[in-house]
Amino acid sequence: METCASSYLLKLCFSLALFCMPFVTFATDKHTHQDFFQCLSLNSANATSISKVIYTPINSTYTSALDLSIQNLRFRTPSVPKPLVIVTPVDVSEAQAVVYCTRKTGMQLLVRSGGHDYEGQSYISSAPFVVLDLVNLRNITVDVEGATAWVESGATLGELYYRIGEKSKTLGFPAGVCITIGVGGHFSGGGYGSLMRKYGLAADNVIDAQIIDVNGKLLNRKSMGEDLFWAIRGGGGGTFGVVISWKIKLVVVPEKVTILAAVRSQNVTSLVHKWQYVAAQDFPKELYMSLILQSTVGSDGKPTMLAIFNTLYLGGVDELLNITGSSFPELGLTREECLETSWVNSTLNFYGITGQPLETLLNRTANTRAYFKNKSDYVKEPMSETVLEEVWKWIQKEDPGVAVMQWEPYGGRMSEISESAIPFPHRAGNVFKIHYMTTWTNGSAEESNRHLSWIRSFYGFMAAHVSKSPRLAYMNYRDLDIGRNKDHGRTSYRQASVWGTKYFNRNFDRLVKVKTAVDPDNFFRNEQSVPPFSSW
Ligand SMILES: Cc1cc2nc3c(=O)[nH]c(=O)nc-3n(C[C@H](O)[C@H](O)[C@H](O)COP(=O)(O)OP(=O)(O)OC[C@H]3O[C@@H](n4cnc5c(N)ncnc54)[C@H](O)[C@@H]3O)c2cc1C
Ligand SMILES: *[C@@H]1O[C@H](CO)[C@@H](O)[C@H](O)[C@H]1NC(C)=O
Ligand SMILES: *[C@@H]1O[C@H](CO)[C@@H](O)[C@H](O)[C@H]1NC(C)=O
Ligand SMILES: *[C@@H]1O[C@H](CO)[C@@H](O)[C@H](O)[C@H]1NC(C)=O
Ligand SMILES: *[C@@H]1O[C@H](CO)[C@@H](O)[C@H](O)[C@H]1NC(C)=O
Ligand SMILES: *[C@@H]1O[C@H](CO)[C@@H](O)[C@H](O)[C@H]1NC(C)=O
Ligand SMILES: *[C@@H]1O[C@H](CO)[C@@H](O)[C@H](O)[C@H]1NC(C)=O
Ligand SMILES: *[C@@H]1O[C@H](CO)[C@@H](O)[C@H](O)[C@H]1NC(C)=O
Ligand SMILES: *[C@@H]1O[C@H](CO)[C@@H](O)[C@H](O)[C@H]1NC(C)=O
Ligand SMILES: *[C@@H]1O[C@H](CO)[C@@H](O)[C@H](O)[C@H]1NC(C)=O
Repeated sequence: METCASSYLLKLCFSLALFCMPFVTFATDKHTHQDFFQCLSLNSANATSISKVIYTPINSTYTSALDLSIQNLRFRTPSVPKPLVIVTPVDVSEAQAVVYCTRKTGMQLLVRSGGHDYEGQSYISSAPFVVLDLVNLRNITVDVEGATAWVESGATLGELYYRIGEKSKTLGFPAGVCITIGVGGHFSGGGYGSLMRKYGLAADNVIDAQIIDVNGKLLNRKSMGEDLFWAIRGGGGGTFGVVISWKIKLVVVPEKVTILAAVRSQNVTSLVHKWQYVAAQDFPKELYMSLILQSTVGSDGKPTMLAIFNTLYLGGVDELLNITGSSFPELGLTREECLETSWVNSTLNFYGITGQPLETLLNRTANTRAYFKNKSDYVKEPMSETVLEEVWKWIQKEDPGVAVMQWEPYGGRMSEISESAIPFPHRAGNVFKIHYMTTWTNGSAEESNRHLSWIRSFYGFMAAHVSKSPRLAYMNYRDLDIGRNKDHGRTSYRQASVWGTKYFNRNFDRLVKVKTAVDPDNFFRNEQSVPPFSSW
């Protein structure tokens, strides 16, 4: 595994190299550009129409097209490598032409849906590359009678929730909390949210898909075969092809659900200790109570811990109070803290937006962007109160209010699905998942390094208290600190298995087999994409 210092040096050397050799890269680029455009116009049904969705640095709209969905400001700076071309196709045949022509002209292809990748892997590479941005492929067709929907990858989760809510009060879909996430990357890596304990992940509820393969061919579940269909439901984006659309099974939700965010600043240690025993094990599947932990400044001027119990209950408030009253009386939950609402309304509230029209779900930029670094861990055994006190000390080493830990209870449906049903392996035996986060607004190297170094040290401390051999992590919380492919993503099986077994555990080898069968030359790749055997 790389140390923090060496990985930082690598990045630094890399940006210097690009900076010093602009003429060399430009000369090759120009040539490749022309071949690429020629290929596109020859291979599109309508050359005039596709030219309107091609952006190169000479277009004044290039930067806004690129920055449109970049979530992490760390990757918006000038030193980060930029694509030679961005294409935003308006139909599937244009996307097929982009795949075909990028491969033909020897460039790398990155696919982007919502741009939320934690490490910018949908729009950053060290080799000359094209971004295929699916922002215009976002149609959603809901079939209420069949309780299914077809959703294109460029749609956001907010758009999906809105379209379901528009047609039905009693159907929903189990996916992420952040409404601006793209369906394409999210489903590709699993996708969890507040319906996880009742219905599992987004990827658990995918029943068909359309994918463009390495040859530019459009396949569905039947023509791609069950192995590839297995791999794309959690095996990580940017690896097996371009998934254009997904057929999903919608799930039943009651007309009224109950939501709340109970904030507690007293007895935090004992409350959190108890939470570890009830949230995943005692609570029914209908109750999802996640935990946000952060430090604040108390009335005495000293740092103090805050625990926020972020909750969704698939039922009314009376039932909920009954359950918490008997399993978790210490929480002292009151009716005033709870709100009964529809499921679709709850998705907006849960995201932290209140008092705004439901149409906010359709807003692709409805969140604040910052510099951030997040990591994940899986916890198999509850921690003791003594360990929890140590954890609080670590949180308080960061600037007040900046460090956040989010604990996601497992159990319920998550424990019933087998570890190999889809590539996502984190099922029975997990009590909860930890999500570590830190954000900052001053992008100077000094500030960035201070925050990065805090989160890495904290993660080091936590090793003793979380899953081991391998220390597991969540694919959609991509973290290049845990290992990365070398050589522009052309890595060896051995190198990739370092990070691959953390995300996929025993499913890693099957992913390598599928990759070898469908993309033996590793055309679809990034710094953490599963490699084919051929690159051993
Ligand atoms: C603010 C924020 C909140 C989040 N909240 C949650 C949450 O509640 N639950 C959760 O599970 N996760 C959450 N995530 C993580 C999120 O699920 C992942 O980052 C996800 O991969 C993002 O998908 P995207 O399409 O927006 O990202 P992108 O950056 O577009 O893509 C991510 C990866 O998938 C690839 N990819 C994208 N589209 C396709 C496609 N159509 N076909 C093949 N490959 C593709 C990309 O090349 C890249 O490698 C959150 C992330 C952020 C930044
Ligand atoms: C091609 O696209 C252009 C612009 O999008 C349109 O005006 C034209 O009619 C199209 N041509 C054909 C043959 O469809
Ligand atoms: C970018 O510029 C080229 C050349 O002027 C033009 O053909 C193309 O339509 C422009 N792209 C966009 C998205 O405006
Ligand atoms: C888009 O979705 C609507 C319904 O939501 C459907 O009527 C229409 O045919 C779809 N369009 C395409 C191009 O798939
Ligand atoms: C904290 O715990 C003590 C002892 O268990 C209890 O007496 C007290 O009421 C609790 N405080 C709150 C605010 O719940
Ligand atoms: C609450 O619990 C009591 C006792 O277990 C039960 O009689 C009652 O019906 C429950 N109420 C609701 C609304 O579930
Ligand atoms: C959901 O929100 C809308 C608009 O914000 C509101 O009009 C409606 O009453 C809400 N529905 C429920 C059940 O609370
Ligand atoms: C989307 O949300 C952002 C941030 O809240 C806001 O500035 C913008 O005006 C919104 N856009 C629309 C179309 O509502
Ligand atoms: C990652 O961390 C940042 C900073 O705390 C946060 O804004 C973002 O929402 C985090 N991602 C998720 C999935 O919560
Ligand atoms: C950002 O941080 C650097 C180094 O810590 C400092 O010199 C600079 O003044 C800060 N910038 C702002 C805008 O606060």
